[in-house]
Amino acid sequence: MSAERDVAALSAAEAQAELARLAAEIVAHDRAYYEQDAPVVSDADYDALRRRNAAIEARFPDLVRPDSPSHRVGAPAAGGFAKRRHLAPMLSLDNVFEPAEFTRFCSSVRRFLGLDEAAPLAFVGEPKIDGLSISLTYEHGRFIAGATRGDGLEGEDVTANLRTLAAVPQRLHGHAPALIEIRGEVFMAKADFLALNATQAAAGEKIFANPRNAAAGSLRQLDPSVTAARPLSLFAYAMGETSESVAATHGAFLDRLRGWGFAVNPLSRPLAGEAEAAAFQQEMAGRRAGLDYDIDGVVYKIDDLALQRRLGFAGRAPRWATAWKFPAEQAESVVEAIRIQVGRTGALTPVAILAPVNVGGVLVRHATLHNEDEIARKDVRVGDTVILQRAGDVIPQIVAVVADKRPAGTVPFAFPDHCPVCGSLALRPPGEVVRRCTGGLTCPAQAVERLIHFVSRAAFDIEGLGEKTIAEFHADGLIRGPADIFRLPQREAEIAAREGWGEVSARNLSLAIAARRRIPLARLLYALGIRRVGEATARLLARHYGSFSAWRAAMLAARVIGSEAREELGSISGIGPAIAEELAEVFAEPRNLATLDELAGLLDIEDAPAAAGTALAGKTVVFTGQLRSMTRQEAKARAEALGAKVTDSVSRKTDLVVLGEEAGSKARRAAELGVLTITEAEWQALAGA
Ligand code: IVH
Repeated sequence: MSAERDVAALSAAEAQAELARLAAEIVAHDRAYYEQDAPVVSDADYDALRRRNAAIEARFPDLVRPDSPSHRVGAPAAGGFAKRRHLAPMLSLDNVFEPAEFTRFCSSVRRFLGLDEAAPLAFVGEPKIDGLSISLTYEHGRFIAGATRGDGLEGEDVTANLRTLAAVPQRLHGHAPALIEIRGEVFMAKADFLALNATQAAAGEKIFANPRNAAAGSLRQLDPSVTAARPLSLFAYAMGETSESVAATHGAFLDRLRGWGFAVNPLSRPLAGEAEAAAFQQEMAGRRAGLDYDIDGVVYKIDDLALQRRLGFAGRAPRWATAWKFPAEQAESVVEAIRIQVGRTGALTPVAILAPVNVGGVLVRHATLHNEDEIARKDVRVGDTVILQRAGDVIPQIVAVVADKRPAGTVPFAFPDHCPVCGSLALRPPGEVVRRCTGGLTCPAQAVERLIHFVSRAAFDIEGLGEKTIAEFHADGLIRGPADIFRLPQREAEIAAREGWGEVSARNLSLAIAARRRIPLARLLYALGIRRVGEATARLLARHYGSFSAWRAAMLAARVIGSEAREELGSISGIGPAIAEELAEVFAEPRNLATLDELAGLLDIEDAPAAAGTALAGKTVVFTGQLRSMTRQEAKARAEALGAKVTDSVSRKTDLVVLGEEAGSKARRAAELGVLTITEAEWQALAGA
């Protein structure tokens, strides 16, 4: 690509000429990519073209062409949006419901920071809007792109749609960083929602269930002019990546947001401590019904941004914030039936089928009954009237049976001792509450559930391969195991001929599958659906072993109890012996290994990235003794953030042992093995703390 001129230096005539050139070039690349399946530029170069186009359009809004590429997002043929990677991940929040849980959250913050139990914590409280979160990227104060949250790492590129929102500043007022990601919530006011539904109904169009769905549906429109006609609002409340520090406290950051031209919720307020936070919670609960928009709780954020940085993240949620949700909404309904679902690990879960009832704005038809003890404890019977409760996004629960309303002739529910799907014996090991089908992969329910998990969002994330399709393809023998998914493109014609399909949708499925052949190791490990290996554990394993082949070899060796490999696996901080045993069992079964190898042969597995460039990247570190400058938890989190693996015991594979005060046996073991030891002061220098 030829050297580009700074957009700020372009004259209007030059801009016009360049926009014409970019429109033609981008459309040609889109054709090559989506229609001929033969891209001629790298994704990065393509993105650069789009970014340049958007930057010129932002400076010369009057010159935006009717055929501007920003009005077309992603693949029109695939019917979806292009993906956009967030520079800093978009996180979710942990929830609390009770004052005692909030107190526990405060204690955990103090513990992490090594603060006194009575030390006051300064927060900002913000109403938690029930909308959808988005990320807005600004370069030199100009809005260049916006995306939905997606899986937190990448979302859908809805830039063209966001440009139509009056609440999204196209330019930030005053001084702005070279680069900043602003996060906020897009929502629809209650009155706007009711008016929209009335218009939709009059036109015979889709009715939305609640303001949240209406906001999401309105933003995710392929035609931006539809979004433009919808009354969407936005409150900004957080930042992602930024090229410079913009404030020292969250409160000051909210002021910067206001100064740049964003709407910030006017009810957001600094709170000097726990008691003030609790009072704020009461106040917001009281004002909730009178607000023009839906809120489902209050978000409390530690005000000091330096403390926020130290606290960092645990999994997908920050340690420095929590959402204190309002109490659950309740309603009554009647149990029409109790069905048993079989999950991917064979667990039998009873589900109550209910007469449909509205609980806090959501139509509820099912509620989980957890397990057989739970049914017996509550004595839930078919025909009973029950009290239901729903809190946040949580699946509805049955709180209790209304005894007075029990009709005559009901009988206690008899929990089956055979799998209702495959008929195999269902066993409940002593001491466990869950009864499991013993059919393994011969049980169609388990096989289908595993496949559903395999393609789910945090795993392979294959668009167009939903639960229903998986079940149908499995029933018809198109997919038996995970590897078969990657052979579906070879059967495109057969799929196209199926009822409800066609050439276009079959082609799109093939493309979606092909796009996922390349997969990060952590996602693959999670996708396998091994018991106890959730997303966080999968990430730990990927980070520790680095590559698929290293992980595979280590798991084979770890089958032997007492082997060095088994010890190593169990000593990875956050893994432990129970998970180690589960993995060893999986690898002890030759059929599992065969399935895994068959799958791996069809994939391009990306090694786990070591946080390059830091002295600790890829190193195995052990902390021992009492640390003075930070808690053990903070030290561990910091080491991991710098790409180190933290283990609990010293072995030949340990690279570094950090000695706190009164370090004992681990210090001796390090000396015996000749492992490098450093003092806490040296550790601080190394970790930049
Ligand atoms: S902060 C790390 N602040 O709640 C920061 N989120 O349950 C994470 N939300 O995905 C977000 N109001 O969609 C934050 N004032 C607020 C919020 C808020 C609503 C949503 C947001 C987030 C979800 C997490």
